Amino acid sequence: MNPRDSSSSSPSDRRLSALARHLSSPSAAGVGGGVSRSLASSSSFARGDSVFSHVARAPEDPILGVTVAFNKDPSPVKLNLGVGAYRTEEGKPLVLNVVRQAEQQLINDRARVKEYLPIVGLVEFNKLSAKLIFGADSPAILENRVTTVQCLSGTGSLRVGGEFLARHYHQHTIYIPKPTWGNHPKVFTLAGLSVKYYRYYDPATRGLDFQGLLEDLGSAPLGAVVLLHACAHNPTGVDPTIQQWEQIRQLIRSRRQLPFFDSAYQGFASGNLDADAQSIRSFVADGGECLVAQSYAKNMGLYGERVGALSIVCRTADVAGRVESQLKLVIRPMYSNPPIHGASIVAAILRDREMYNEWTIELKAMADRIISMRHQLFDALRARGTPGDWSHIIKQIGMFTFTGLNSQQVAFMTKEYHIYMTSDGRISMAGLSSKTVPHLADAIHAAVARAV
Ligand SMILES: Cc1ncc(COP(=O)(O)O)c(C=O)c1O
Repeated sequence: MNPRDSSSSSPSDRRLSALARHLSSPSAAGVGGGVSRSLASSSSFARGDSVFSHVARAPEDPILGVTVAFNKDPSPVKLNLGVGAYRTEEGKPLVLNVVRQAEQQLINDRARVKEYLPIVGLVEFNKLSAKLIFGADSPAILENRVTTVQCLSGTGSLRVGGEFLARHYHQHTIYIPKPTWGNHPKVFTLAGLSVKYYRYYDPATRGLDFQGLLEDLGSAPLGAVVLLHACAHNPTGVDPTIQQWEQIRQLIRSRRQLPFFDSAYQGFASGNLDADAQSIRSFVADGGECLVAQSYAKNMGLYGERVGALSIVCRTADVAGRVESQLKLVIRPMYSNPPIHGASIVAAILRDREMYNEWTIELKAMADRIISMRHQLFDALRARGTPGDWSHIIKQIGMFTFTGLNSQQVAFMTKEYHIYMTSDGRISMAGLSSKTVPHLADAIHAAVARAV
């Protein structure tokens, strides 16, 4: 339809055009040609005239959309368990004391400037991040076989890694677990890789489908890229045991596949930074190559600062240097160079023994609060005699519990109890508190009882 054709436009469009014509006429605009000219030009911007008028409204992001719906709900008992962000017992966002301290240091340092960082980011931050994830005594670091570049949190690190692989790696298929964090398939597809799934979760046991995982990776092509959650698998909260990791490592190495670790929760799963990096370290210890995307969103509470790192472990220092030179070519046209503030906070904490120790204490307190929420919810369901086995709540690990509730039960809990979560039944344990556990347990009990 031609938007200027009044015969085919809607009555309200015609009214708007007439109003604009009237306002732009010299008599209506009065003296002052400038005014009449600007009004005249605005007349051509009547609704429907936009060069974007064909653009369809996109659906809300399935995870962030939960918060949009939550914000619109006026209920005083509403509860947002959708988004993976830590909350205190009082339901408030938390800025770690050690982060405040680091920020104060940065402000007090008058020598600090706001110049651009290099394309690869803050060099000290990169070195410290590699040590944090691989261990200070990692042979790969000592032999200079690791290149680490600062990226925009975990998501940006995955995207840069994905684009690098699409340009320089011979296999363009990445295998991701089913299910996985909803952004993974989008990030990797847009990076230029083709995405396939391997079995991961068994709804019957609400645990790992280990046999399915081994079969799928065993039949994935030689050399395929395999995405692995380093710990605290999102959304299931189900991690392989150390023995299972060892079998996965052997299989992946025997098929010369390339592991790409997503480490968004180091320290958040067990409360221990080293324990949560164990899966990655076992792959580095065998001398093989891998990629690691690291995020400081959860473990330092730096969500909105967008601070993370991509490391690529290579066979030799020479290869690592060449890989880094190509990573720069991926980053430069994407966002030129990363932001300075968040990386400076992380570097200040990681370089100072006292601050580092304080961070580990605060991190453990967050992890412990989440673990305690698991126990409280499990006990509350048991006390209500809710049908079913809920032991997976205390067996799963990390920020999320994959409850096993279906989308109808989720919709019921949202409608009747004002509890918001993703439709796959995932709840953020970090969003719960002792005060809200009974409300959630009542809602789960009612949703389950309806279905029996
Ligand atoms: C598994 C996983 N990977 C990556 C991310 C990315 O987080 P960010 O980009 O905020 O660091 C998240 C965040 O929820 C996640 O759960």
